[in-house]
Amino acid sequence: MTAAAGIDAVADEVLGEIRARGRYRRMRMLEGTQGPRMDVDGRAVLLFAGSNYLDLANHPEVVAAAQRAARDVGCAAGGSRLINGNTSLHESLEEALATFLGTEAALVFASGYMANVGVIPALVGKEDVLVSDALSHASIVDGGRLSKARVAVFAHGDAGDLERVLARERGRARRLLVVCDGVYSMDGDLAPLPDFAAAARRYDALLLLDDAHGFGALGPRGRGTAEHFGLELRQHVDIYLGTLGKTLGSFGAFVACSALARDLLINTARSFIFSCALAPPQVAAAEAALRIVEREPERRQRLAARAARLRDGLAAHGIDTHPSETHIVPVRLGDNATAMAVCGALLEQGFFAQGIRYPSVPEGTARLRLTPMASHTEAEIDALVETLAKTLASVRE
Ligand SMILES: Cc1ncc(COP(=O)(O)O)c(C=O)c1O
Repeated sequence: MTAAAGIDAVADEVLGEIRARGRYRRMRMLEGTQGPRMDVDGRAVLLFAGSNYLDLANHPEVVAAAQRAARDVGCAAGGSRLINGNTSLHESLEEALATFLGTEAALVFASGYMANVGVIPALVGKEDVLVSDALSHASIVDGGRLSKARVAVFAHGDAGDLERVLARERGRARRLLVVCDGVYSMDGDLAPLPDFAAAARRYDALLLLDDAHGFGALGPRGRGTAEHFGLELRQHVDIYLGTLGKTLGSFGAFVACSALARDLLINTARSFIFSCALAPPQVAAAEAALRIVEREPERRQRLAARAARLRDGLAAHGIDTHPSETHIVPVRLGDNATAMAVCGALLEQGFFAQGIRYPSVPEGTARLRLTPMASHTEAEIDALVETLAKTLASVRE
């Protein structure tokens, strides 16, 4: 038997099981400029999938900043930040993020996934308990596994249950770390952050807020979920995690925290230490995008207005988008086959909204995840509503 036949036999068996469960995935090919109108698998569509919420990925200032950095510094940092990869661009972005968020410091990571799998094991270990929301993102789950901390799960978004878990675990661990998403990536609901933060303080637990989808998009000034609730990060959140690859239209992620916590992470977060620094064009693009986020609150206001129009339009057709209260709007369809059939039918009619299945969401809750952008027109939102309503009616006949 050749080596290829060995791996192919394994692949065949595992893929067969994935297909039998209706969970087989393939990548679609997107072409054209990153924005609300693109080609997907050769078809021109309106894009309602993805996280480029403010349409900054192709903003001329963002592109120009990346071009300048590529020309002046190069396409790669060429190594880890702790060896040869730390440039003035990295330090400048971190200072800008910390100033923007009102924290002492910030530290960039190669992605949000890498941040969670680095930060969580840096904060908790075998003697500790990670107290995690039941719907925490996969990167939080994986960070918890790598940390070897015991994981105690509380019911999704339920501050009362968080309190019960903290009361049970206090005294049984060296350290407690509460972790939650600010905006749940597949439901668009918000964590009740004021209650979570108060509970964490009452039980002397640390709080890590993963605001991958709230940073830049929520709050009067774009400071995310904490600002949305009127909370100061410095006072209420120990480690704030945001991404550069979603609202900021670049790539990578960061944590905002105290200067001492930054130093701790530089010295202990393995995904920071043992990985290449972010590439200079991405770093420069992120800082340029941050300036636009600061300067143009109207983008955030338009995003919120488009999302509200989408939710209201669907509600008028009797289509439930519960529990969304943000720019992530789910339409639950239940089984995998229906979700993918509706996704396919929409694509044929010129709309791309991703069908989402397990393991991205719990079994039996497959859905369409609709993500409007600030630059969709009202007419485009209305067209999606009408087309989706007709498509669902025909699927349900
Ligand atoms: C809540 C949450 N955390 C972390 C991540 C990972 O971020 P990144 O895509 O930068 O790896 C995502 C997005 O995929 C997310 O939704």
